[in-house]
Amino acid sequence: MEPKTRLEVTKKQANAIREVVKATKYIGPPYGNLSEVRREDAKDVLELFLDERVSGDVYTLPRPFSLQSVAAYIEGHMAESVAGEGLLMCSRNENGQIISLVDIQFWPELSACEFGGVIAYAYQSQSFGSKGIVELCNWVFEVVGIKLLVMTTSLKNVRSQKILTRIGFTQMGEIESVRPDGQTRRSLYWELEKD
Ligand SMILES: CC(C)(COP(=O)(O)OP(=O)(O)OC[C@H]1O[C@@H](n2cnc3c(N)ncnc32)[C@H](O)[C@@H]1OP(=O)(O)O)[C@@H](O)C(=O)NCCC(=O)NCCS
Repeated sequence: MEPKTRLEVTKKQANAIREVVKATKYIGPPYGNLSEVRREDAKDVLELFLDERVSGDVYTLPRPFSLQSVAAYIEGHMAESVAGEGLLMCSRNENGQIISLVDIQFWPELSACEFGGVIAYAYQSQSFGSKGIVELCNWVFEVVGIKLLVMTTSLKNVRSQKILTRIGFTQMGEIESVRPDGQTRRSLYWELEKD
């Protein structure tokens, strides 16, 4: 997936975005409490994904799920982080257990990024998603220097659609999303420009 809107960005602006992404290992208050997912988290992440109430609606996840596919997914994001083009961040509960995961894809040359996220089932529908997405929008706009946010949601994902509508995203038609296992699904495509 690539942004539909193509903003003009100078090389200097794109490089500045890359440098912030490369340096990010933790996103703290007031933008959340997210740390980078590590190799040793693979087992916990796999457990999260194996619950279809968590992963069922997200097309970017490394299907079919196995310790190997999840480890490669984490490794791939570590490489994206080094290039300043992606981050895989998580939040934990008081026991250190991962309770949410967010995958952020950056297009520095377009000053754009996309989020994909999941919340553990026990923590869903308690406003964590609403709060977390607002905090991340603020972080990418205010700290990273992003000017365009793009998102996709499945046609039936009412919660995500409500969150994006309330924040002020514009719904810009449908696209075909392709999962890593080759399955396709129709998605709603959304954009939000800074200001
Ligand atoms: C989608 C997801 C991120 C939403 O986060 P959340 O914390 O569960 O949702 P919230 O409690 O913030 O609720 C968001 C909105 O949905 C509404 N809502 C909550 N539960 C609902 C339900 N079961 N049915 C319909 N609406 C519901 C809320 O009232 C709120 O709407 P409002 O802004 O009009 O008040 C989270 O449920 C999740 O991770 N789901 C599984 C993975 C997924 O779908 N990821 C998103 C891919 S784009």
